[in-house]
Amino acid sequence: MDPVSSPPPYARSFRPRRRGLSPERAAIYRRLAPRWSLDVEGPLLDFEQVFGRAAPVVFDIGFGGGEGLIDMAEARLEECVIGVEIHTPGVAKVLDAVEAGGWNHVRLVEADALDFLPRVPFGSLAGVRIWFPDPWLKNKQQHRRLVRPQVVAALTDRLRVGGVLHVATDIDEYARHTEKVVAGEERLQGGAIPRPEWRPVTRFERRGLAAGRTPTDLWYERLP
Ligand SMILES: C[S@@+](CC[C@H](N)C(=O)[O-])C[C@H]1O[C@@H](n2cnc3c(N)ncnc32)[C@H](O)[C@@H]1O
Repeated sequence: MDPVSSPPPYARSFRPRRRGLSPERAAIYRRLAPRWSLDVEGPLLDFEQVFGRAAPVVFDIGFGGGEGLIDMAEARLEECVIGVEIHTPGVAKVLDAVEAGGWNHVRLVEADALDFLPRVPFGSLAGVRIWFPDPWLKNKQQHRRLVRPQVVAALTDRLRVGGVLHVATDIDEYARHTEKVVAGEERLQGGAIPRPEWRPVTRFERRGLAAGRTPTDLWYERLP
């Protein structure tokens, strides 16, 4: 059975954050969310149908304020991206960029990525991005970490051969934790790489750099 389709509640990997939208953003959100969002629940998706073309599809889990997703979408028009985030202001910001750019290669899901995964076909993703995941440092909170064996297994199921799981974190302990978890997934191979120049600097990374932390990029490819 698919590990993440076992019935909730599984541990949520995010802190619910309540921040309202400005009246303008709220209007953008109301107008654009129905057009560019995918329902969290429903039948298995056919990405060619969703995007109207055959293209590599990347899954961006927890895009936060959206800066990284927007920069990547602008730089890689040939790639389709499904961004998942539970923080509405970030969703609204990306919707605004989608409209401004006249893009048809971005879709959003405003939900827990784990609730959406059952809609993603096995072997369908060219990449999964987990950039600066919430670290959940306290012992009794660590079960909430997004990078955990069942989630990595479920994401690996959905990567195509040669597809990439890219985790970036500036918490050394989370980097070591990720290495340990991924070592248990024999279909993934890789490890730390130099920080890719093309990875946009987001607010979270900037904050870490200001606090003297150095990001680690972990890059794993799905084996046949
Ligand atoms: C520390 S922020 C990093 C945001 C962004 N990736 C960046 O680099 O700026 C982590 C984000 O992941 C989101 N998140 C955590 N778990 C999630 C999940 N299971 N599904 C969707 N979003 C999630 C949180 O809401 C939060 O916005």
